[in-house]
Amino acid sequence: MTKAREEGGGRQTPRGDGGARTTREKIAAQLAGARAATLSLFDLVPREADLHESPGFGYRPLIWHLAHVGVFEAYWILQKVKHEPAPDERWQRVFDPISTPREESKDLPTRREMEDYLRRVRSRVLDFLDAADLDAADAMLRGGYVFRLVLEHERQHQETLAYLLRLLDPAKKVRPQRAQALKSDVEPAGLSSTPVGETRAGSRAGRAPASGESRGMIELPACEFEMGATGGEGFAYDNESPSHTVFVPAFKIARAPVTNAEFAAFVAEGGYARREFWNDEGWAWREREGWEHPLYWSREGESSSSKRWRVREMFGDAELPPGHPVAGVSWYEAEAYARFAGGRLPTEAEWERAASWDDEAKRKRRFAWGDAEPGGALCNFDLSFWGTTPVGSFPSGATAQGCLDMTGNVWEWTSSKFAGYPGFEAFPYPEYSEVWFDEDHRVLKGGSWATGASVLRCSFRNFFRRHFRIAFAGIRCAADV
Ligand code: AVJ
Ligand code: FE
Repeated sequence: MTKAREEGGGRQTPRGDGGARTTREKIAAQLAGARAATLSLFDLVPREADLHESPGFGYRPLIWHLAHVGVFEAYWILQKVKHEPAPDERWQRVFDPISTPREESKDLPTRREMEDYLRRVRSRVLDFLDAADLDAADAMLRGGYVFRLVLEHERQHQETLAYLLRLLDPAKKVRPQRAQALKSDVEPAGLSSTPVGETRAGSRAGRAPASGESRGMIELPACEFEMGATGGEGFAYDNESPSHTVFVPAFKIARAPVTNAEFAAFVAEGGYARREFWNDEGWAWREREGWEHPLYWSREGESSSSKRWRVREMFGDAELPPGHPVAGVSWYEAEAYARFAGGRLPTEAEWERAASWDDEAKRKRRFAWGDAEPGGALCNFDLSFWGTTPVGSFPSGATAQGCLDMTGNVWEWTSSKFAGYPGFEAFPYPEYSEVWFDEDHRVLKGGSWATGASVLRCSFRNFFRRHFRIAFAGIRCAADV
C-alpha cells in the first residue's frame, strides 16, 4: 500500500516531511471522499439501462460523467504532469467533451467497466501523489494544484449529475437514507411565512428593516472592494484571478432570493405573455420552447381559480412550497422577473460585493458568513436536503450586511457576461474558462443545495448559457438607489 493510500484511509504514519505530509494526506482523503460521493449518486438509479439514456432535452446520459471524471483525472495527472501515455486511447476520445459530440455518447461501457477503469487510474494517481514533489516550482504541482483541479472537476460534475438526476423520472430513482427527513426539519427564520408583498426585511430579528423597502431590499453604500480570489481560497480557477479592486456605486439588493410565491405572482400577472418584460432573444426562446412557468412546475385543478402549482422534486411530486426560492429558470426568465418587479439583476461585482465584503472590517470573506468552512447551520449545500430550503432558513449564514442565502440554496443569475478579469491568463487550459468568454454565457454566483463545500467560495464564478434551465438557479433582485 502506498503512503497516500494509507494516510487517505485515516492511518497516521509519522513522517519527516512536515507540511507536505499533511497536504498529501488531505488530498488522498479528499480524492477518496469525492469518489465515494460520485458513486453514491449512481446508486440512486438502480437500473443500469436508465443510466445509459439521456435523462431529457438531449443531455448526455448520466453514465457518461462517470468515465469522464476518470479520463480527466488520467489526462491531467498521469498524462500532462507525470508524462505517461493515456491509459486507454478510446476512452480518452469518447469522454473528452470538447472533441466528442454528444451523439457519440451512446453505447458506452457499463458502470462496472467504468469503475474498473476509475480504479486503475486512481491507483496510479495515488502512487504519483506519494512520489510527487508538492513544493516544486512547477505550478501544476505546487501545493498539489493538479490534484485539487481534479477534485474540483469531480465536485462540479457531481452537481451536473444532480441536475441530470433531477431531470430523470422519479420512478427510476430510489430515495437515499439521507433524503428521508427532508425540508420539514429546517426551521424557517420567519421570512418565508410572510405573505407575498409584505416586507420581509422587518421580520428579521435584531436587524432594522431597510428604510422604506417594501421588497425586502437593503441599500449598500458605495465602496471599493477586492473582486476575485485573494489567496485564502485554497483552490481557485484561472477565471477568479487576478483579484482586483472594483468600485461599486451604492445600490440596493434583496435580502433573500425570489420565492416561488413571488414568482407565481409574475406568472399570474401574465409575466410569460407580456412582451415588455423580455428581451428579443429571451422572447424567441420563450416562444420556441413554449415556456409558461419554471421548469418542473405544473398545474393542478380544473378551473383557473382552483389551480394550484405543483413541482416535481428529486424523488417525487409536491405542492409548490411558496417560501422556497424559485429555481429552474433561465437567465431570460430571471431578467424578465426582475423587470416585472421593478428592479434588475445584480451585476457580478455587485453580487460579490454584497456577498463577501465586510464593510466595517474592509475585508473580504471566503463565504457569506465569514471564513469558517461551510457547515449545517450556515447554509443548504452538498445535497443535505436534496432540494431547496425556505429562504432565510440560515440566519447564521447571513452576510456582514444581512443578506441571506447568498451561499448555497440556489445559484443566482447575475447580469454580467462571463469574461476574463483584467490581466486574465488561461491556466491550465483555455477550455475551462476562456472559450466560454462570449456573448451568451452569464455568470452565476453563490452555489446551490447540490454544490460541494469546495465550490461554494464567494469568488467562484459559475457560467451558463442564457437559456439554460436545468441548473438549480434562481433570482436575487437588485435596484439602483
Ligand atoms: C463551470 C459548471 C459550467 O459543467 O460545463 C466541468 C464545469 N468544466 N468540466 C461545466 C466543468 C469542465 C463547467 N461549469
Ligand atoms: Fe468535465
